[in-house]
Amino acid sequence: MHVEKKPSIIVWGNAKGGVGKSTLALHFALQCMHEKLSVACLDADGDQGTLFRSIENRKQYCRQKNLSFPIPEIIRFRPSAYTSTALATTALDELLQRCEHFDIIVIDTQGSDTPVGRYVHQRARILISPVTESPLDLDLFVNISEIQEQSHHTLPLGSYAHMVWEQRLTKASQTQEPLEWVVLRNRMSSQISRTQIHLEKILKSLAPRVGFYIGPSVGDRSIFRELFPYGLTVLDREGLTTLAHITARQEIKSATQFILSLLKKKEKS
Ligand SMILES: Nc1ncnc2c1ncn2[C@@H]1O[C@H](COP(=O)(O)OP(=O)(O)O)[C@@H](O)[C@H]1O
Ligand SMILES: [Mg+2]
Repeated sequence: MHVEKKPSIIVWGNAKGGVGKSTLALHFALQCMHEKLSVACLDADGDQGTLFRSIENRKQYCRQKNLSFPIPEIIRFRPSAYTSTALATTALDELLQRCEHFDIIVIDTQGSDTPVGRYVHQRARILISPVTESPLDLDLFVNISEIQEQSHHTLPLGSYAHMVWEQRLTKASQTQEPLEWVVLRNRMSSQISRTQIHLEKILKSLAPRVGFYIGPSVGDRSIFRELFPYGLTVLDREGLTTLAHITARQEIKSATQFILSLLKKKEKS
């Protein structure tokens, strides 16, 4: 399948750490490879280097066990190596240029708001923001206490949604290309709680107003934590025996299909 002539840049971002950006970026990259797309990964959170290290660990694991699992190209970008934002963004552009023969470029980002992070968001064709069930996560999208307590004329956007909105405007003025945004609920517990229902209601009412899609959700499964240090995923065949594995795999497939279908929609229009 060919998605677009130039690579489609898929950025995993949220102004918060620990929501699953790196884990899901790796799974998304590998599911795309299973779908015969060529994929390069860029770890723009390269000072921490979680995605970079997990792919390096994957290479090592496959070498040791003599396995021929797919391994995406990985580039590490360390924002701290540059003395100015201009130097960092120029270097980033050069790295992206080097990947122009790939179908998909998957970018993992830092969980904080930085000038380089903002630039990466502008380069996205699709931005995917994982959120957990914590009200703290949602507060980055909209000021929850404000919408509960008073009527308001404009939506009280949270800090992250505000930042994304700015990058969308900048991108639209410079390239006329859209920046589509998908919010993906990660680490969903199987037990339905009142908080879960409440947060879901808020997300649904926000989606059309803030301008994001709500993607399929991914459950909280320990298998993700166990496999990640080896660079292994729930998509790899080895040891995939339990129902939790199989369900997790299906969830990753659905999330990936959802994202790829947005790319195809653009291709047709
Ligand atoms: N769906 C999930 N179920 C269980 N654990 C998860 C899931 N997604 C991520 N994790 C775990 O949560 C932690 C944070 O994930 P990570 O991908 O490093 O987040 P981020 O990149 O946003 O900081 C890791 O230990 C990871 O294994
Ligand atoms: Mg990370």
